Amino acid sequence: MHRLEGRRILLGISGGIAAYKSAILVRELHRAGAQVRVVMTRAARAFVAPLTLQTLSGNVVHSELLDPTREAAMGHIELARWADVVLVAPATADFIARLAHGLADDLLSTLCLASSAPLAMAPAMNREMWRHPATQQNVRTLSLRGGYVWGPAEGDQACGEFGPGRMLEPDELLERIAGFWRQGPLSGVRALITAGPTREPIDPVRYISNRSSGKMGYALAAAVRELGATVTLISGPTSLMPPAGVERIEVNTALEMREQVLSRAAVCGLFVAAAAVSDYRAEQLAGHKIKKGVSRWQLALVRNPDILAEVAALPNHPFTVGFAAETHDLERNAEGKRRSKGLDMIAANLVGKGPGGFDADDNAVTLYWEGGKKDLSLRDKPSLAREIAALIAEHYDAKYTAQDPGSPSG
Ligand code: C5P
Repeated sequence: MHRLEGRRILLGISGGIAAYKSAILVRELHRAGAQVRVVMTRAARAFVAPLTLQTLSGNVVHSELLDPTREAAMGHIELARWADVVLVAPATADFIARLAHGLADDLLSTLCLASSAPLAMAPAMNREMWRHPATQQNVRTLSLRGGYVWGPAEGDQACGEFGPGRMLEPDELLERIAGFWRQGPLSGVRALITAGPTREPIDPVRYISNRSSGKMGYALAAAVRELGATVTLISGPTSLMPPAGVERIEVNTALEMREQVLSRAAVCGLFVAAAAVSDYRAEQLAGHKIKKGVSRWQLALVRNPDILAEVAALPNHPFTVGFAAETHDLERNAEGKRRSKGLDMIAANLVGKGPGGFDADDNAVTLYWEGGKKDLSLRDKPSLAREIAALIAEHYDAKYTAQDPGSPSG
């Protein structure tokens, strides 16, 4: 059986050059066994011929809101109800803005409003348009409402520039769609994971950071994904590739990480804080490079907010898992941290002695939860991550699914 056999995907195409890749996506979805119905905006038809998409999907392409013949065959409300998932790829800046404001002035925007199926978007646009505060605000609005924003990727752009704004490749979009049905103990759970270090600038060329490689957080993202969750990884600077099927948001500072986490935490069922967040940042950011002169120089630092503690204190907080790197008294310090931050679980490891930990390929942790613990001996981080993810799933299930069917997953 094909992996998407019988799944009904409504693919919306808005008007951007990346629309040519949507033809490949339609073919791949079709090959994976999905039923695909394509809805195009008027501008999209200038980029790719409806006949191409009709041939590849095996279904007529819909475009007009008030088309009596099409309405008779399958009306727009029927189409909205038909879909298991609505994916808009490419989603232009204009289309994202219209969705964020709830406009329903063409067939595709009307369908997005009328459908109760999960709505995903794959943005594609010029990098300046993507970075514009208006677009960023619209994207945030949509993700806070529960929409999935997949990408964009960074790279060469059709306009000749380089930067973020490329639509994700069809195979990656296929992976993400398949993720909605991946069976596992965390199926249907939205997970948010932080990873890597943060960089706290001092002046335009210097920063305070730490040796975190991000390997543990990235391995956890992959492991939680394998158990069926939909994963967003909020990552500080690392040299790692995002795991397949995981959405990655890149940040630099603790404050940026906090903003990205808090804008999503309310709609997540699971939060894992694996990032090594800088506890302090420079009180003042020098506008230009600080020159050497005096022989003794003091830098004033201020505390960064504790992202993990903030998430754990939210009224409807997700299942929260923290990390604790300790140099001594592992159990007392880690349990103290778990209790004071109000966490469901904490993964603690001894640092400074022996192998493993920061910047290494291997690690060993002890997981603590209310009334229990488990030692996971030294092993490579992907294997360790799979063990941790399985324990998280077990306790997540015990906390929500087994006792209360109204779990916060979503
Ligand atoms: O208190 P401590 O920094 O040891 O706690 C470590 C845990 O808290 C890790 O899970 C880390 O990701 C998280 N943390 C955070 N925000 C901070 C500091 C730590 O989310 N500012």
